[in-house]
Amino acid sequence: MIHIENNVFTLHTRRTTYQFKADEHGVLLHTYYGARVGNDDLSCLIQLADRGFAPNPYDAGTNRWYSLNTLPQEYSTCGVGDYRMPAIIAENADGSHIVDLRFERFETRPGKYALDGLPAFYGGSSEAETLIITLHDSTTRLTVELYYGVFEEFDLICRAARIINRGSAPVRLLRASSACLDFPSDALDWITFDGRHIMEREFSRTPLRPGVQNIGSVRGTSSHQHNPFVMLCEHSADEDHGLCFGMALLYSGSFEAAVESNPFHDARFAIGISPHHFCWLLAPGEAFTTPEAAMVCSPTGFAAMTHCWHRAIRTHLFRGPYQFERRRPLLVNNWEATMFDFDAEKLVSIARAAAPLGIDMLVMDDGWFGTRCDDLGGLGDWTVNENKLPGGLEALVPRIRALGMDFGLWIEPEMVSEDSELYRQHPDWALRVPNRPPTLGRSQLVLDYTRKDVRDAIYAALCKVLRSADIRYIKWDFNRSLSDVWSAALPADRQGEVYHRYILGLYEMLERFHQDFPDLLIEGCSGGGGRFDAGMLYYTPQIWCSDNTDAIDRLRIHYGTSFCYPVSSMGSHVSAVPNEQTHRITPLETRGIVAMSGAFGYELDLSQATDAEKAIMTRQNADYRKYYDLIHNGDYYRLTSPFENDRYTAWAHVSADKREALVSLVMGASRAALPFITLRLRGLDESLRYRVNGQQSYLGSTLIHAGCPIPMLMGDYRSLQLHLVAE
Ligand code: GLA
Repeated sequence: MIHIENNVFTLHTRRTTYQFKADEHGVLLHTYYGARVGNDDLSCLIQLADRGFAPNPYDAGTNRWYSLNTLPQEYSTCGVGDYRMPAIIAENADGSHIVDLRFERFETRPGKYALDGLPAFYGGSSEAETLIITLHDSTTRLTVELYYGVFEEFDLICRAARIINRGSAPVRLLRASSACLDFPSDALDWITFDGRHIMEREFSRTPLRPGVQNIGSVRGTSSHQHNPFVMLCEHSADEDHGLCFGMALLYSGSFEAAVESNPFHDARFAIGISPHHFCWLLAPGEAFTTPEAAMVCSPTGFAAMTHCWHRAIRTHLFRGPYQFERRRPLLVNNWEATMFDFDAEKLVSIARAAAPLGIDMLVMDDGWFGTRCDDLGGLGDWTVNENKLPGGLEALVPRIRALGMDFGLWIEPEMVSEDSELYRQHPDWALRVPNRPPTLGRSQLVLDYTRKDVRDAIYAALCKVLRSADIRYIKWDFNRSLSDVWSAALPADRQGEVYHRYILGLYEMLERFHQDFPDLLIEGCSGGGGRFDAGMLYYTPQIWCSDNTDAIDRLRIHYGTSFCYPVSSMGSHVSAVPNEQTHRITPLETRGIVAMSGAFGYELDLSQATDAEKAIMTRQNADYRKYYDLIHNGDYYRLTSPFENDRYTAWAHVSADKREALVSLVMGASRAALPFITLRLRGLDESLRYRVNGQQSYLGSTLIHAGCPIPMLMGDYRSLQLHLVAE
């Protein structure tokens, strides 16, 4: 609910309130974000003093207490006396770097705003409301529209900024944050999800220290290294207690999330496109729209925040039939089974073994096109390699369909190999600077997706493939970071726009697939989870979580990923042992329990599986189907942290009505004479009595406060599942 009174803007959600006001100078002051309160003007909380070296706007006259450097700002400016992080930096035609924004007007609209060409949460008039605040600089006439989308039910507030040059001279945008958020106190912890290829989104928590702390990516992708989802919370906050804030950027390119702890112990947070390599020329009349930032505040700890994110993403970001209407396919992918070494007969043998186990789909991974037999060439030539697949997909797909299975395909449409027909014909289609040797990544180059002619050509080639057979799924991969970022199609003074224009081009392509192939499920991927962000989830409701399929490492990866992203978004497969990435041997049951907490599948040569293994897999698949709704649409509870407890990791999926739960627990490496485990559960109804695996029954309050006894599991990496049903 949005309440507006005397230029005080109060945004209420179910459990939180967010407030700012335009003061007597037209400065937009941030007054409050936290647990739900009333409509009082909370600028009474802002105290003023004559602080040394805190300058005063000219219109404040001799009032030395009024300084932009000490007042909490809603969208911080630059060059006019606020020395903390600016939300916006612009270079004006006269060379000055000044943006002084003052309130002009506001507007409200039913429903959630949309952003042209960018992913955004969506919602109709009964689900969300929009507030637009217009600010402007009266000297340059640079105008900033701040967008707020309020989803009351999910405690979700979305934000974006649209910057318009209403002046008569061009302006260069050097920084344009999606959101800025001032906190009255810096007594906060900063939580980020950091990592690397095959070990993404590791949980990291530190108290704020003086100065700016930031994470981000300058790779042109959201990256394996840092995720565009971060949190701030009270020092004492945990899963069940304390004030916490989660901020996500719906963006798949270079980004920055930064927090600054200031000398008077307030804190400023800002998130948006990375200012590195960013310079956007705004000619008179032109506008620039930032990606969307989304915020969830939870006054009662991390679990409640996570549930808001998961529910909001599932219901207001995912789209298409695989949002709810159809179940995600239980698939087998041939990558870890065969790498590039496969042919039609091999694929059919895997499908033949998979079908009786209850697997829905065969996904043919990398290596089916052009002359690609390894990762040195072929990308860009999207025609079937008939040496491997005689008769093409027209011959292969019906054979898979005849086994009762669907068919899916791997593509990497943003790339080109030097050794490809496409590159030989169009060397200028790759991002690279003429007369400079290009930097290679996995021996490949990135196509210039800023160019519509390039996108059109790739789209036409892929459409032909997709229309040649009954293809229900694609895995959209992206296997290197950007470098040599320069577009042959843009003038020198617009080269600072290439990184962002690239992402706009990517989104335009993904939207075309979404519109033209509405039944196609697209799974995102970038060497596993190198582009796992809320922006991609608008187009691809599941993303391959990591190239690391080791069940024990996945416990850490899933834990970190789960803070923002729903279980159903995490592509997650059972692979062979010893595991390819870690050489660890884990029981098949454990690999199944870990992988089925996601968009489940297999990634191994099923034609080699023993009868005993097949029997286990058949049970796993039946369990996954039985628990599908609970896993995909229930609430996810972290019960332990693999970063604090390496003896065992546990988590639970609980139905919305709290009458059913699935608890999973995985042990670490075995040790002698281990202490017993009593596992305290979360999310149950204290007053209900639950039967556990059809045997003993316990009161919810007992399971929550006293705990559930876990039988002793001997041997490395053993696991169990408890199915709880209310009586
Ligand atoms: C990436 C993906 C893998 C696989 C390979 C194929 O690394 O993450 O799953 O598809 O590419 O080259």
